[in-house]
Amino acid sequence: MSILGSILGFIYQLCQYLLSHELSLSIKLLALYLLVIYNLFFPRSQRAQRSLNISKQVFCIGNRVLRYLLTDPPILLSLSLFVCSLWCKIVPYFCGHGLGHEHARHGKIYIIMQNLYSKENPFLASIKERYRLSNPRSEKETYHISLDLKGSDYRYHPGDSIAIFSVNDPQLVERTIVAMGATGDEAIVDRKGLCFPLREFLTTKANLTEISRNFFLHILEKQHDPELRERLQSLSEDENRNALKDYLEAREVWDFLSENRQVIFTPQEIVSMLKPLLPRFYSIASSQNAVGDEVHLTVAALSYSSNGHPRMGVCTNFLCNLAPINQPAVPLYVQPHHGFTIPDNVDQDIIMVGPGTGVAPFRAFMQEREKQQGKGRNWLFFGERRMEDDFLYRDYWQKLHASQRLHIDTAFSRDQETKIYVQHRMEEQGHKLFQWLKNGASLYVCGDAKYMAKDVEAALHRIVETHGALSQPAAKDYVKKLRADKKYLRDVY
Ligand SMILES: Cc1cc2nc3c(=O)[nH]c(=O)nc-3n(C[C@H](O)[C@H](O)[C@H](O)COP(=O)(O)OP(=O)(O)OC[C@H]3O[C@@H](n4cnc5c(N)ncnc54)[C@H](O)[C@@H]3O)c2cc1C
Ligand SMILES: NC(=O)c1ccc[n+]([C@@H]2O[C@H](COP(=O)([O-])OP(=O)(O)OC[C@H]3O[C@@H](n4cnc5c(N)ncnc54)[C@H](OP(=O)(O)O)[C@@H]3O)[C@@H](O)[C@H]2O)c1
Repeated sequence: MSILGSILGFIYQLCQYLLSHELSLSIKLLALYLLVIYNLFFPRSQRAQRSLNISKQVFCIGNRVLRYLLTDPPILLSLSLFVCSLWCKIVPYFCGHGLGHEHARHGKIYIIMQNLYSKENPFLASIKERYRLSNPRSEKETYHISLDLKGSDYRYHPGDSIAIFSVNDPQLVERTIVAMGATGDEAIVDRKGLCFPLREFLTTKANLTEISRNFFLHILEKQHDPELRERLQSLSEDENRNALKDYLEAREVWDFLSENRQVIFTPQEIVSMLKPLLPRFYSIASSQNAVGDEVHLTVAALSYSSNGHPRMGVCTNFLCNLAPINQPAVPLYVQPHHGFTIPDNVDQDIIMVGPGTGVAPFRAFMQEREKQQGKGRNWLFFGERRMEDDFLYRDYWQKLHASQRLHIDTAFSRDQETKIYVQHRMEEQGHKLFQWLKNGASLYVCGDAKYMAKDVEAALHRIVETHGALSQPAAKDYVKKLRADKKYLRDVY
């Protein structure tokens, strides 16, 4: 490789490094300029393979600059617009093709704004509306949440999900600080070398509800109380793997630390053993063509007790209880679907199986299909505990049913002594269901992965076997083919 090639290669690697780390804007700008130099000097043929990647990074930085400018006082607005127009010109010039080219072709500022927010740079949405879908007397608490996307220019499609970065409950954070023997004001350095006050780090970055095996082993190593050490030691043995899993699942960081208060670690040591707080995903329950700048979610608030304490799901507690209404407080991005979406052919029939919150994407599907006005028929299997208390979006389904745009079959599991689930309804309607499939309908399943999705699939095999008069292996192959043809699609969690 020539000297110039080595230098340019080094510049490229350096830029990659600078752009992928949380550094100040000026350092990122420097990286941007270096990339521009790289692009100017590197031979075009070799540039091509990396150009899309680079264009994305250049574009991302440009967006950050833009966002920075746009959040400044109005006096900078004209400067921002200047940057916008300049951006339209420089991105395609330096990047050749990919994102930049597309933006230049359209030549409009709003197109550039479309990707202003992303996973790396989530949009802060406000909750516009939040109400309980399940009756207050139900044991379940399922909420409809409408978020305001105005200002983000996010575009979403039926089948997409929203990823939410939640924060930990302040009470849980305080309990953890006390268990750490800290004040909350200690300076903490994270894995990327950024500095935070401990309280902020625990609120926004740390997983306080799951204990990693690594954390467990470090506590064990330092636990010198004979009785406690023996217990932990025994749990760490291979044959007690399940007992260890139960032990860890039953505890949050604070109660694990409290039970092992003899073990002393500094706050910095503890936080470096914690898992990161990851985003949670929620199926989008609306069509953008129907609701505009909003996005709707259907969220089942998780609450249970373990180790003698009440516990709540981190993100569902945040969305359903903690996040204020009408304030930009919910960081999110759109996660595109991977094929789980309505057919392009508006005349194609669809069958949707969505018990519980699994019904969410089907509300989006139906809102979109209503707009499309195609001839395709729609069939929903919905299941929940009780008809009177848990029939999510009942009025909407009934309206669609009344206007003959939807067939609906319901399975309310706890309205009678023996449980009735969606797959029982599917089997009752097996003949008709098989005819729809034979006719080219797509079958969608959404919701619980652990039990429901497996049982529904087993029922599907039986339906195909019985109503297609096929042997067991042939029915299996039939379902396999449905999957390969993307006529049987699942979004299960
Ligand atoms: C693609 C996708 C789409 C999704 N769509 C939706 C949706 O539309 N609506 C929706 O509500 N959810 C949806 N989810 C699930 C959602 O992402 C979260 O996993 C869920 O809301 C719980 O998050 P949390 O932070 O509140 O709970 P966490 O704090 O993450 O707690 C969950 C953990 O709590 C434990 N737990 C739960 N119940 C019990 C119990 N009874 N006893 C003991 N331990 C228990 C389990 O270990 C579980 O892993 C979706 C997930 C995916 C991947
Ligand atoms: N970890 C847990 O213990 C636990 C418990 C519940 C939910 N979850 C999770 O919490 C999330 C939200 O749950 P959700 O509100 O969407 O509803 P859900 O708990 O999935 O329940 C919706 C309906 O499905 C029924 N159901 C239960 N088992 C089924 C099966 N094998 N086949 C078909 N239907 C079945 C339920 O009946 P019954 O409840 O009457 O049996 C209920 O009527 C999901 O991610 C789910 O996986 C976890």
